[in-house]
Amino acid sequence: MDPLAASLALNQRFPNEDPSFMEVIIESTPLAGSETGARIVEKLVRAKPEAVLGLATGSTPLGLYRELIRRHREGGLDFGAVTTFNLDEYVGLDPRHPASYHRFMQENLFDHVNIRPDHIHLPDGMTADIPAYCAGYEAAIRAAGGIGLQVLGIGHDGHIGFNEPGSSLGSRTRLKTLTAETIEANRRFFSDAGEVPHHVITMGVGTILESRVCLLLAFGEAKAEAVAGMVEGPVTAMCPASVLQLHPQTVLIVDEAAASRLRRADYYRYVYANKPEFQRDASFPVR
Ligand code: GLP
Repeated sequence: MDPLAASLALNQRFPNEDPSFMEVIIESTPLAGSETGARIVEKLVRAKPEAVLGLATGSTPLGLYRELIRRHREGGLDFGAVTTFNLDEYVGLDPRHPASYHRFMQENLFDHVNIRPDHIHLPDGMTADIPAYCAGYEAAIRAAGGIGLQVLGIGHDGHIGFNEPGSSLGSRTRLKTLTAETIEANRRFFSDAGEVPHHVITMGVGTILESRVCLLLAFGEAKAEAVAGMVEGPVTAMCPASVLQLHPQTVLIVDEAAASRLRRADYYRYVYANKPEFQRDASFPVR
């Protein structure tokens, strides 16, 4: 029996066995990457309307959110039963502050789709008792059945959420202190540089690792080194995204610029282009 047929036969014998992979998808442009990302999210939400989505902020997922809004308006993609948990929020920033992640999500996604307000969760940067609040956030994720698909971006230094280099790879939702580099990178969202908070609440690396599928998007040359560290570097707390090498179902979508430092880019392109038909859709089990 040829190896593909054998693998297919095995899949049919063990239909509940989930395939494990880190899939690297190299698209020509951020727009094409955002569309591919939206297709994966749509597939989950259509198959499981009560899906739990983990969401990210930053400029990277903007195209993905635009594409999901389009699919909601034009294709009837229904978020009515979806629950969401965002990765992080600044400490001390009112949810109405223009640079808060609450406002970002409201303006770039929630105002334009039918996610129920009581199904939306973002860390509360104004909480008086941060440790208790963080424990409650973890409990809420568990009570919702865990995150089915976590959308992620990546910082220049390989951070995910706000888990800066050196973060425990087993960390949970907690208070983090931002690095000078991250404060600098994010000051563009604030009218005054002195206004950028130095502390945040972020899901931990361990929290992110428990998501059933991780969907990380990275676009542009500035992310090339972090992407190479994530996929081909050693697993190290110095590049928190590299821990996704241990995650069973991570999909990385990059454009050519962000892929430019991947040593095995040609191989990833070849794998993706030559995927056997049965693997194409089977690779995103719906849970
Ligand atoms: C912040 C966010 C991350 C995001 C990163 C990169 O640190 N907490 O979730 O991935 O910025 O942002 P951008 O997509 O704007 O490059």
